[in-house]
Amino acid sequence: MAVSVLLGLAAWGFCVIVLAVQPQRAYGLSRGSFGLSKEVVAPPENGICASSVTVHGYKCQELEVTTEDGYILSLQRIPEGRVGGGEDKRPPVLVQHGVLVDGMTWFLNAPEQNLPMILADNGFDVWIANTRGTRFSRRHTSLDPSQPAFWDWSWDELVSFDLPAIFDFVYGQTGQKIDYVGHSLGTLIALASFSEGKLVNQLQSAALLSPIAYLSHMNTALGVVAAKAFVGEITTLFGLAEFYPKGEPVENFLKSLCANPGVDCYDLLSAITGKNCCLNSSTVDLFLKNEPQSTSTKNLVHLAQTVRDGVVAKYNYGRSYYNVMHYGEARPPVYNLSNIPHDLPLFVSYGGQDALSDVRDVTHLLDNFKFHDVDKLSPQFIKDYAHADFIMGVNAKDVVYNQVVAFFKHQQ
Ligand SMILES: *[C@@H]1O[C@H](CO)[C@@H](O)[C@H](O)[C@H]1NC(C)=O
Ligand SMILES: *[C@@H]1O[C@H](CO)[C@@H](O)[C@H](O)[C@H]1NC(C)=O
Repeated sequence: MAVSVLLGLAAWGFCVIVLAVQPQRAYGLSRGSFGLSKEVVAPPENGICASSVTVHGYKCQELEVTTEDGYILSLQRIPEGRVGGGEDKRPPVLVQHGVLVDGMTWFLNAPEQNLPMILADNGFDVWIANTRGTRFSRRHTSLDPSQPAFWDWSWDELVSFDLPAIFDFVYGQTGQKIDYVGHSLGTLIALASFSEGKLVNQLQSAALLSPIAYLSHMNTALGVVAAKAFVGEITTLFGLAEFYPKGEPVENFLKSLCANPGVDCYDLLSAITGKNCCLNSSTVDLFLKNEPQSTSTKNLVHLAQTVRDGVVAKYNYGRSYYNVMHYGEARPPVYNLSNIPHDLPLFVSYGGQDALSDVRDVTHLLDNFKFHDVDKLSPQFIKDYAHADFIMGVNAKDVVYNQVVAFFKHQQ
């Protein structure tokens, strides 16, 4: 199998880990910085709206949001459906992708098949998030991607900074409570936020697709060896850096993982995400052209800790001394998911073939909700679905998205 496929598949959801890092990579956004460059580069002209949305006859706005720690995130808004008209107060929905991909990943199928456009056509005001470090969210008020400090974050910072900044912005623009859709890491950061009481005042309800919180049963040989490779707290060895999936060091690292006994990389798609039932091969080709996207090495280390430790906790600095320095405690604080408000409407959709979001781990997650108001929790189990089917399944509209739409409409 071609290496490009190998790398692309690594991005299906989460967690292919790397020893190799590339601190100097900066794409085209690098500035020759003399001292503190406050100069901000304009977003690429051919952003997600132009390449994937307006071509299909939908209105689309490119927006940006600056986080409290200085990252300038790109955000797209599809304010209405293709035919327009209808209600003037459209409920806002925020759609949040997973790790190693960006907002583009939602648009790879036809308009009739992809989630944001289905939501827009059903009367919602749709907002697409792009996590720091991905192609359209690589700017900062004072840092540059070529600087290690630009990559000094894990998913804790997505919880503390990215999500709150985007929620504040969408809430400020619309004056309405937000319906949230997350896939994969997009579910973990939301759950962690809600457990700390963040966002909930601006939140109407949340749909969690292929949820990730506990990862102890991650059922992919490749994922398991990858996570093990990271458990050595790699950042202390390699420093802070970009994880650039298309770079050669990552490629070589993946090849070495695939040489492990018991790791079968021949059918990589299944090896990483589980056996997706319903992908279109043209969509997969498009996916490989657009993804995977960068994240920080520290973020992947943090995810590997989640796999190892079986708890949803903040980043572990390894030595108790460092944890005390950061948290005032020897162990990183836990995100207590039982503290999510019991009356928060939650839709949780998970697949029987998902190797990353294993059924046993989802069951563990649902255990946290045993005191949740019964009529506010809607689990959906889809026997044939694996991790990528939730974003790109050709039948996802019938199987999942119509249910998401109905769930949101029920909350209004
Ligand atoms: C697969 O994608 C191609 C290209 O976008 C499209 O023409 C075809 O209808 C799709 N097949 C299905 C089953 O959606
Ligand atoms: C989480 O919160 C629940 C309810 O507030 C409490 O009973 C439980 O002990 C907490 N768990 C942890 C690990 O702190």
